[in-house]
Amino acid sequence: MRYVFAMAGRDRSATLRAGNTGHRLEAIAKGGGWMRIAVLGTGTVGRTIGTKLVELGHEVTMGSRTADNEHGREWVSAAGGGAAQGTFEDAASGAELVFNCTGGAVALEALRAAGAANLAGKVVVDVSNPLDFSQGTPPTLTVCNTDSVGERIQREFPDARVVKTLNTVNTAVMTNPAGVPGHHNLFISGNDDEAKTTVKGILGAFGWPQHTIIDLGDITGARGQEMYLPLWLRLMGRLGRPDFNIAVVHAGEN
Ligand SMILES: NC(=O)c1ccc[n+]([C@@H]2O[C@H](COP(=O)([O-])OP(=O)(O)OC[C@H]3O[C@@H](n4cnc5c(N)ncnc54)[C@H](OP(=O)(O)O)[C@@H]3O)[C@@H](O)[C@H]2O)c1
Repeated sequence: MRYVFAMAGRDRSATLRAGNTGHRLEAIAKGGGWMRIAVLGTGTVGRTIGTKLVELGHEVTMGSRTADNEHGREWVSAAGGGAAQGTFEDAASGAELVFNCTGGAVALEALRAAGAANLAGKVVVDVSNPLDFSQGTPPTLTVCNTDSVGERIQREFPDARVVKTLNTVNTAVMTNPAGVPGHHNLFISGNDDEAKTTVKGILGAFGWPQHTIIDLGDITGARGQEMYLPLWLRLMGRLGRPDFNIAVVHAGEN
């Protein structure tokens, strides 16, 4: 299925023809510019991130297993100009950067449907968590200790530039970090420093000051990010709300 963007008065055809993704990635890293972005996933996370990206001026295609997913359709009409929907493959094929907002247990399936060729060379931001609710709550992790969803994605799609981030906060915080008062942190990991710089630019535009983003190093950092979930779930139960976050403080700050 093809999709049409309402361009809201913006003539981007010349930029698109020029195919200057590199320059736009640089602009994004500095907190400006726009890109064609695929948001794979029609759940709360995909819709929250997709909405913010559209607000920031990006062209966003939401991907799903089906081209006319109901949540995707509702999101397109609510998000307005710059929003479109299609299959995982439709979304990834036209994108310069991809967000994986599918369940951790099905992420590889979704990305296979998106197509390895459509991910090659692109920054793939993995927001997923490996939660398994099949035995009830609390959920268990489908992968942990010596592996993670982030690493699995990077292994299966070696030409993608996988960056793990945003999975340790609820959607209420992802694109509105100022809603949680005081100093608090977000984590990022990935093998490609340039890709992480690009993603930090996007996170900055989401409202995360650069000094609050802690770079955990290569993609094996995703293990810790994902294994934080049992503590996050427990905290949510005790606090009775999901809009919280943690702050990392150390003795060097004295
Ligand atoms: N909720 C939060 O605040 C939060 C915070 C941080 C991280 N996360 C993580 O973000 C991810 C998205 O969460 P969510 O609640 O928005 O959505 P979700 O319900 O976990 O996932 C929705 C997406 O998964 C796709 N999907 C389901 N089964 C599939 C399969 N067998 N093969 C391929 N794709 C499949 C769905 O496709 P269709 O569109 O075709 O239905 C849909 O697009 C999860 O990994 C979650 O753990 C959530």
